[in-house]
Amino acid sequence: MTDTDTDIAYVVDVSPGSGTLPPRAWPPASDATRLSLNGSWRFRLSPYADADTAFTAEGYDASAWDTLRVPGHWVLQGQGRHGSPAYTNTPYPFPVDPPFVPTENPTGDHLHTFDLPAHWPAGGEAVLRFDGVESCARVWLNGAELGEFKGSRLPHEFAVTGQLRPRGNVLAVRVHQWSSGSYLEDQDQWWLPGIFRDVTLLHRPEGAVRDHFVHASYDHVRGTGTLRVDSEPAGRVLVPELGIDVASGETATVPVEPWSAEQPRLYEGELVTDGERVRLRVGFRTVRVEDGLIKANGRPLLFRGVNRHEFHPETGRTLDLATMREDVLLMKRHNINAVRTSHYPPHPAFLDLCDELGLWVVDECDLETHGFHAVGWRGNPVADPRWTPALLDRAARMVERDKNHPSVVVWSLGNECGTGEGLSAMAAWIRERDPSRPLHYEGDRSCKDTDFYSRMYADHAEVEAIGRGEEAALDDPESDARRRAMPFVQCEYAHAMGNGPGGLAEYQELFEKYPRLQGGFVWEWIDHGLAHPEFGYAYGGDFGEELHDGNFVCDGLLFPDRTPSPGLTAFKSVVQPVRMDGDGREGVVRIRNLYDVSDLSHLEFAWAYEKDGATVREGVLDVPAVGPGGSVELALPEPPRRDPDAETQWTLRARLAKDTAWAERGHVVAWAQLPVEGGMQPPAPGGSAPVRAGGRIALGCGEFDARTGALLAVGGLPVTGFGCDVWRAPTDNDNGMPWVAGSSLAAKWRALGLDRMQHRVEAVEPRADSLVVRTRVAPAASDLALRVTYHWISNGIRLALRMDVEPEGAWQVPLPRLGVRLGLPAAYDRVTWFGAGPGESYPDTGAGAMLGIWSATVPELQTPYVRPQENGARSGTRWAELTDGVRPLLVDGGTFAFTARPWSTRELDAAAHRTDLVAGDTVWLHLDARQHGIGSASCGPGVLPDHRLRPGQEQFRVQFSVRDSAAPRRPA
Ligand code: GAL
Repeated sequence: MTDTDTDIAYVVDVSPGSGTLPPRAWPPASDATRLSLNGSWRFRLSPYADADTAFTAEGYDASAWDTLRVPGHWVLQGQGRHGSPAYTNTPYPFPVDPPFVPTENPTGDHLHTFDLPAHWPAGGEAVLRFDGVESCARVWLNGAELGEFKGSRLPHEFAVTGQLRPRGNVLAVRVHQWSSGSYLEDQDQWWLPGIFRDVTLLHRPEGAVRDHFVHASYDHVRGTGTLRVDSEPAGRVLVPELGIDVASGETATVPVEPWSAEQPRLYEGELVTDGERVRLRVGFRTVRVEDGLIKANGRPLLFRGVNRHEFHPETGRTLDLATMREDVLLMKRHNINAVRTSHYPPHPAFLDLCDELGLWVVDECDLETHGFHAVGWRGNPVADPRWTPALLDRAARMVERDKNHPSVVVWSLGNECGTGEGLSAMAAWIRERDPSRPLHYEGDRSCKDTDFYSRMYADHAEVEAIGRGEEAALDDPESDARRRAMPFVQCEYAHAMGNGPGGLAEYQELFEKYPRLQGGFVWEWIDHGLAHPEFGYAYGGDFGEELHDGNFVCDGLLFPDRTPSPGLTAFKSVVQPVRMDGDGREGVVRIRNLYDVSDLSHLEFAWAYEKDGATVREGVLDVPAVGPGGSVELALPEPPRRDPDAETQWTLRARLAKDTAWAERGHVVAWAQLPVEGGMQPPAPGGSAPVRAGGRIALGCGEFDARTGALLAVGGLPVTGFGCDVWRAPTDNDNGMPWVAGSSLAAKWRALGLDRMQHRVEAVEPRADSLVVRTRVAPAASDLALRVTYHWISNGIRLALRMDVEPEGAWQVPLPRLGVRLGLPAAYDRVTWFGAGPGESYPDTGAGAMLGIWSATVPELQTPYVRPQENGARSGTRWAELTDGVRPLLVDGGTFAFTARPWSTRELDAAAHRTDLVAGDTVWLHLDARQHGIGSASCGPGVLPDHRLRPGQEQFRVQFSVRDSAAPRRPA
């Protein structure tokens, strides 16, 4: 059959569907009966859209079919029997030939038999509701066809009164993977067909609420809230706590506490009609753009936001309530105050959680046509009026469903659709229906349909220019003028792919400096790595897709299993709502309250005075309840005594003084460290004279290869592979944007040969009390080099190295790293260190790492990026002790970054998945003078100038000693 066949013409018809009810508010809790139809369904997959429809007839025997969990995606169930997931970023995985889709169109037939529960009321009506089906569904109940719809992450309802019977109802749903709707759903994510959200049967008693619209605004001057609930049919609106008892459609104004993300004050109420009592959770707030700023309740907002896709490594975009709650709790605990629901309305229960726990939400429509970019935007549906009804349908389904959530403060038209009249039509419809919320769309720089200016991945310099109001003119003077008068938000920035993102702190400084910059939303919340038996977590290409975008789908602040990555820990520190700075030597701290509405009374401020990483005194600071935007300067307690030989500092922590709905008392909201004294490095030990014996040279406790000068042992502990090292396994950010990977930093590094440096030994020079080894380190086929000289001295107990590095030639690229590498026996698998920790830190990513004494096993030091890459450096290290439990090796005598891993850099570089990495017989220890920063060039700006590792003259010092004692050097 062909796509002109009338029976399947609906698949490629650009209309949104037929037979469905008009959209309405998400049915909140009410006393009306409902029946979940989630569960085990019968399932059959056909390769084409025109498979026979005999299964929809009454009495069809589907006992031979597979079973499938609904909600769910069929490609993630059935162990490969139902096809596989596929990942593309922007490319459509089929020819761009709108509205047509491939003849090979996987089609899932679903059957579910159900009885009405005994308590199902007689009379009234019934509605069958689908909260999300990708990408197109045709529905039958008891043999009668109800209709068909598109709009994957939007709700659709059918009236089914009259079709239901007490027992043996048969619901048949045919789902096509591809439809004309797929052209509108080209979001950067896995293609995952199926009935992936709830299916529910709702009883609608006579006189039940068909739709209701809660209007609850806040007047910050008077401190009053105004409530009006429109309802169809009319009813009474009760909010007992506020003494409100009015008819729907009537207005009540009373003193209230406003709703905000910080203080999500909800008032419980009810809408009572003749047929139903509907729960209301009223949050009073007013959001508007005024004086060039986005204000909530009269105060400018600063979004500390993230972009959230719905994702679970086992179930794809099917999320249970516990997972949704976990997302919100994790956001709250990491100082995130806003979420953009990229790039479609989420499961509606997620918004309930945002109302309850407090997040500002940018609710985005299920719309992206990015793949038209590849064809010069020819045929783009948003610029073709034939598609406008479908776009309007999507806008209405979002707005109507979500309009009663106080957390939703911005409507977003969609993502990356280019420009066109369809977007303007959506904007006009939304403005008419709900003028109370500002509009967002990033893809049209003329900003004609939006209330603020939004960009993605603008670099720091451009953001600063925008902050100053000095951005470059873009198009016609009229839109330039309109845009300049608007507030600015980065709807996506700080691409969190792999190790990184770097440069967060510098963005935040700009956001806090220029009022016009109202923050942004990190891309993105979670890695979309799918659980895979062979690869651990799979990314694009792992299912044999002919077209895919690799691991670009793993770019979140959470790993797929929702473990926070170091990027999230850093973001938490960068956006902390309380800042503590000052002068540790003078013993003064300035505490700034960066909250929007809260004073500091919910926090307890703990101080600790630390000497060489150990707390010697601690207590609690008495901090006044400074209001939002305010600050106070306080004297810290007198330190016990000045100790100039030791490194001393104050560590300050702002902790929750009481349990909250999202974290327990004691949860650290913000912290800071103020240095007092710098301490002293142990002096370099000298005295021993080199002694040559066999092919070796002994110098105190060190042993060297007489020919190469390489370190072979220290204190009897064998060392392998010693030498200067400049290579790191490129990070996703080093690799740059996949579509310009050829010009990335990593490509330049590899072209130059930094991954295969050769070490030519020029001289091994035993001196009276030292050993000097001169080398020239350079890649094949190049005349660029590093002159590296190792100066060794020892007193028999300690072995000290000074490595001098002098670049030769005109180096044009930064170095990945600069330091030494050595191999230790695999038994050296535990480390205790005094430095930044407990997590990794690089020059531009370390905001979450604290100076202290930390311990970890070597496996624990590995950050499990889905695609293996450089990770795990602990920087600012003063000393590190690695141990086999018998004879610890101490490294100190300088400040360095260390990395310890059970595989080599080469193996790390070659690995495509974590499962490729197998621990060998060596722990590879890197001690780096410096590392190149991380940046966020996987989609955005590279490393800022201050964090680049430019080859230059360098002197690096470090000392080694081995003790015959199993006891750790310091208690951790
Ligand atoms: C943006 C897009 C996101 C994502 C991101 C890169 O252009 O809106 O959906 O693709 O880039 O990860």
